[in-house]
Amino acid sequence: MAPQRKLAAGNWKMNGLSGQLSEIDALVGSHADAGCEILICPPATLIAPMADRADGRIAVGGQDCHAEAKGAHTGDLSAAMLKDAGATYVITGHSERRADHGESDAVVRAKTEAAWEAGLAAIVCIGETLDQREADETIAVIDAQLGGSIPDGATGENLVIAYEPVWAIGTGKVPTIDQIAEVHDHIRKTLADRFGEGTAQDVRLLYGGSVKPDNAKEIFAVDNVDGALVGGASLKAADFGGIIEALDG
Ligand code: PGA
Repeated sequence: MAPQRKLAAGNWKMNGLSGQLSEIDALVGSHADAGCEILICPPATLIAPMADRADGRIAVGGQDCHAEAKGAHTGDLSAAMLKDAGATYVITGHSERRADHGESDAVVRAKTEAAWEAGLAAIVCIGETLDQREADETIAVIDAQLGGSIPDGATGENLVIAYEPVWAIGTGKVPTIDQIAEVHDHIRKTLADRFGEGTAQDVRLLYGGSVKPDNAKEIFAVDNVDGALVGGASLKAADFGGIIEALDG
């Protein structure tokens, strides 16, 4: 398998009306030739028009999917629906879903399996809270989330893992380089134990949590960081462009 490209992924969360699609035009205009892969996960209402405008030059993804393929689940979207709208990726297990919607590791695993079944790559999010870090539980939390949220059958094509310390999301607080390095190294080794060294090297490990144009370079220089999952700084093409340039080196 060809080595996976580094990945700059934007998570727009519950932000973005059709007027903001101009940011995609700007991003495609300035960065379509980037060496890294670019992905934006807009609210589901914008997946189809965004995919239309991006026309394959950047990837588009969902922020969540249901674990079932179809059925009586008012308000939910299946992975196949996201794919049908033009998505190629979906985020599963974001800490905001885990906290706001009580999603357990078992639920995240089922959603990830549903994503694979529909032909989407899943970006599975894991990360400790501040209390857990202060109690020295970070690695134990990561182990439990990795073990519980990642289905069997992971490959470099169907799985991306985002390490997002909950306390760093939207706060402007970023772990130290050593803290990021320790967790990413641990994730890589844990994947190697379970899926073999080749797959472990192919799965891209993103860091997420207050990544900005001005700290991106330092974060991307850390071993085993293959890109970023970016919230706030992905909303504007100018900011996200700075992060893409840092990833491209
Ligand atoms: P942030 O969000 O970049 O705004 O901290 C990251 C995320 O939640 O994916």
